[in-house]
Amino acid sequence: MQDRFEAIRQALDAVGQSHVLCHWGSLSSKQRAGLLTQIEEIDLGMIARLAAQTTDEAKVDFTTLEPAEFRAIGDPTLPSFRAAGEELLRAGRVAAFTVAGGQGTRLGWRGPKGSYPATVVTGKPLFRVFAEQIAAAEKRYGRVIPWYIMTSPINDQETRAFFQDNNWFGRSPRDTLLFPQGTMPSITLDGKLMLETNCTLAVNPDGHGGSLRALAASGAVEDMKARGIEQISYFQVDNPLVKVIDPAFLGLHATAADSSGEMSSKMVRKRDAAEKVGVFCHHAGKTMVLEYSDLPKSLAEATDASGMLRFAAGSVAIHAISVAFVDRLTQGDFALPFHRAKKKVPYYCDKSASTIEPTEPNAIKFEAFIFDALVLTAKSLLLETSRVEEFAPIKNSTGEDSPSSSHQTQSNRNGAWLERFGTQIPRRANGDVDARIEISAATALFEDDLATLAAAGQLPKRIAVDSEAVV
Ligand code: UD1
Repeated sequence: MQDRFEAIRQALDAVGQSHVLCHWGSLSSKQRAGLLTQIEEIDLGMIARLAAQTTDEAKVDFTTLEPAEFRAIGDPTLPSFRAAGEELLRAGRVAAFTVAGGQGTRLGWRGPKGSYPATVVTGKPLFRVFAEQIAAAEKRYGRVIPWYIMTSPINDQETRAFFQDNNWFGRSPRDTLLFPQGTMPSITLDGKLMLETNCTLAVNPDGHGGSLRALAASGAVEDMKARGIEQISYFQVDNPLVKVIDPAFLGLHATAADSSGEMSSKMVRKRDAAEKVGVFCHHAGKTMVLEYSDLPKSLAEATDASGMLRFAAGSVAIHAISVAFVDRLTQGDFALPFHRAKKKVPYYCDKSASTIEPTEPNAIKFEAFIFDALVLTAKSLLLETSRVEEFAPIKNSTGEDSPSSSHQTQSNRNGAWLERFGTQIPRRANGDVDARIEISAATALFEDDLATLAAAGQLPKRIAVDSEAVV
């Protein structure tokens, strides 16, 4: 231990960070070993480089930024790609991948976000919503769709316990693979590593961009290759309306002439200039996403000749990604650029010998974003989708992107599906469905699946105002 300590002390000294060893004398040998391991896992050179920077690593020349091109809703070629996607599914070439390592601070939910009761009548947790869709797709295409779930060291155990408590949602644990993402140390505003306790560094999950490395490091990529998986259906844990498996999108991504088959994305038109979604842009010959916090207000609010937002392609954080692309990127010491954000990070106070929760931002957190991989593709394709069909995220406890806004969008989607097959649906003056309606994936994975029930007279004739219905 002494040799390890000396080596680490010298390495820390060289970058002006040896203060993190200041409690060494009072630590137990277990605490010492833990701290050394934590420090050994850090790339101190990279931290020194990041600490010296004042802006994000991913730099963009805003003067040359153009809106990204996309295939609009109703693109007549889309249906023709469905068969290709279905073929991939029937051949067992597709995996589902949920990034669920975030801390969910804004929602104020104690527990992994995937355990949040998300559906509008029965309150199914997000993980169950996804599991049921995967089960329905497995039944339809006759193949196992392995499901990979990225957790973080903070919520990994709780997430595993949640799956166990729910009997893995009826899935085989062999085909439901959880693995934690990596972490990044937080630094003070003047570039120093921080202690969270006297023997642990303050670290945070390294962003969903860390998923690429985590997929490789956890063995998930090898597992995918061994199973013959070629394409990954990537989505965030916070959107109960996501089409976990979308054959048309997968087929388009994998076979369209203008796709490299490496990484494609879905988008919706932004609700307004202030909506907190990343925006797809065209920059230096590539499609990329500029996060909402990085898009200058003047560009966010810019309009075209017809008065529409110029940068309107909002990211719903849904991607199709090839295993070969992940494999290629994660050879060697590849890393996506880190974005920096000023945050409140709990820190250890020597005086009170306790961890303090700051009331003001006191630190910089570093996170990598998956969409920064888009510029590493040869070509990347963008598909517009309908907000009501596929985007009802739960992020905040109230207001926009909250449980109540998500519930309304879920009812709007489900109401519209039923309406198409003849059910009378009550609507308010603003067009919102005036009832709480839930459709389980086992009943209908896609809208067209309701046709059989409609033909058998098994759909409700009408749904009463302000009532609840589960189909
Ligand atoms: C995110 C996107 C935004 C997009 C919007 C759509 C980023 C930075 N921004 O915004 O461009 O328009 O969703 O809903 O992603 N996660 C991890 N590990 C982490 C951090 C996050 O797995 O270290 C997961 C979370 O569990 C969640 C997702 O990534 O599933 C989104 O994270 P969050 O930081 O909440 O992003 P948003 O601000 O919601």
